[in-house]
Amino acid sequence: MTRVSVTVDGVAYSDDVEPRLLLVQYLRERLGKIGTVIGCDTSNCGSCTVLMDGKSVKSCSVLTVQAEGAAVTTVEGLAAADGTLHPIQQAFHDKHALQCGFCTPGMMLAACDLLRENPNPSDEEVREGIEGNLCRCTGYQNIVAAVQAAGAAMSAQTATDAQASAGDPPAALIPAPNAVEASA
Ligand code: FES
Ligand code: FES
Repeated sequence: MTRVSVTVDGVAYSDDVEPRLLLVQYLRERLGKIGTVIGCDTSNCGSCTVLMDGKSVKSCSVLTVQAEGAAVTTVEGLAAADGTLHPIQQAFHDKHALQCGFCTPGMMLAACDLLRENPNPSDEEVREGIEGNLCRCTGYQNIVAAVQAAGAAMSAQTATDAQASAGDPPAALIPAPNAVEASA
């Protein structure tokens, strides 16, 4: 047994594991993160994709001990604490990019990694970015549209946030309530 410490969806875990235990097995069987799916036994389908320190990995191809010290994000960690969907989840919903949903968790996490590097991908770039993820249902067209819509939504949000913080007066110029009271 080997001790492994890993953060999954924002929660720190420390467990003794067999050195041969795959990350996907750890996530599903130990932590109950069954949103991470096993879709093949050949490392081809991408259903098991998670983010490890922001990079997408196929968790059926990673040993749990290799995740030592890493921050792992599964599909169950994408939504905000109040239940607000992540833009990629919202876009998959809006664009009808999922049917059976078997491939969807991995597809969304692969897309997160792609959009982190390229927030405005072309059709071809999306197809290249998710080429390690197979879908048997949708024909990919709606998935490509969803990834692009999520990229646009995330870029718009980033621009809004930047504008809001640029418009804020410097903290030093905001009178502290106590200071106002003291001068009254
Ligand atoms: S379960 Fe198919 S690639 Fe991991
Ligand atoms: S929605 Fe069915 S495999 Fe992707």
